[in-house]
Amino acid sequence: PKVVLAYSGGLDTSIIIPWLKENYGYEVIAMAADLGQGEELAPLREKAVKTGASKIYIEDVQREFVEDYIYPTLKAGAVYEGKYLLGTSMARPLIAKKLVEIARKEGAEAIAHGATGKGNDQVRFELAVKALAPDLKVIAPWREWDIRSREDAVDYAGARGIPVPVTKARPYSMDRNLWHLSHEGADLEDPWNEPQDDMLVLITPPHKAPDKPTYVTLDFEQGIPVKLDGETLDPAALIQKLNAVAGANGVGIVDMVENRLVGMKSRGIYETPAGTVLFAAHREMELLTLDRATLHFKEGVALRYAELVYDGVWFAPLREALDAFVDSTQRTVTGTVVMKLYKGNCSPAGARSPYSLYDQELSTFSRDEIYNQRDAEGFINLFGLPLKVRAMMEQKAGLR
Ligand code: ARG
Ligand code: SIN
Repeated sequence: PKVVLAYSGGLDTSIIIPWLKENYGYEVIAMAADLGQGEELAPLREKAVKTGASKIYIEDVQREFVEDYIYPTLKAGAVYEGKYLLGTSMARPLIAKKLVEIARKEGAEAIAHGATGKGNDQVRFELAVKALAPDLKVIAPWREWDIRSREDAVDYAGARGIPVPVTKARPYSMDRNLWHLSHEGADLEDPWNEPQDDMLVLITPPHKAPDKPTYVTLDFEQGIPVKLDGETLDPAALIQKLNAVAGANGVGIVDMVENRLVGMKSRGIYETPAGTVLFAAHREMELLTLDRATLHFKEGVALRYAELVYDGVWFAPLREALDAFVDSTQRTVTGTVVMKLYKGNCSPAGARSPYSLYDQELSTFSRDEIYNQRDAEGFINLFGLPLKVRAMMEQKAGLR
């Protein structure tokens, strides 16, 4: 029987290969997804096979990641607990989808992943598999084996002739893709500890960023960024380029304590340079083009959307229904925004749209053709009526 393993080439997923063979008698097929993590994946081919995999699939899913996962989340304005732009959360369902595709192609009976038993990732992988392939078995070695520490893992690898990376691994649990890079663990486990500058990979510490602002121009079409500084770019290329500019200006560091789905709080540092700029720019576009009722309703949707992405409930009817709502709101979210990047800050510096609802004539105090100031009096009387009725009751009842 065969199993398809989500493989990264790191120590953890490497030792899973012999473990699955020894404990389940499986033929192990590895799968590495290229989500734009900026690492050369080609060397994994040889490595996986040397470690005992019968074969490896290296899947370039960058475009799919941006178009089918990042864009919907961006259009929804989904931010978890006010800070986290969901970089890891969005990637898990896509990885699971690829695992399932390969399992079908190979006639495998199970899928395996290297997420621990204490985190969110296990939930996300497994909910996606349940939704896409209810008959497939899922194996999560971290919930079964006795390996508890890096030392245990090194010993396990050593005993099986698996090369252990010589470069001193960073102390953090990291996850990287096109959208973000996360750091958890080690000194960060105490929220009192300020993250060290030298842990940052994508972002220049704000105090070391250039002393003058950089302006970037973003063109949106129906809620999706299509041009950067006037240049039409591929979805992945736009994010890459924007990552470099925003990162150089110190933009996109998030330091937060978050609620994991599995009940505990955890502390993480996220680097999301392009994402931070895109979310802020998209928000500006919406402020210009959405009416008040839609904008406010959409803020509620954004909260729910963030929760379901975080929770890994991606392949689900509610997400599809919310996408339909969001897409309907985005029909006029088209236009151009200039963002000013400066030492960790990202602020709007100009916005325009052919669908702008902002009417200069209306909001200035000169002309009274559409807006008759006399109408305001009746509006205020009726809008304020419940307040007045309550106050009159309080007076009468001696409550004030
Ligand atoms: N806490 C974040 C989340 O749940 C990041 C998880 C990072 N995962 C990892 N395997 N290092 O989405
Ligand atoms: C893990 O536990 O594998 C990483 C952290 C998380 O999933 O929340």
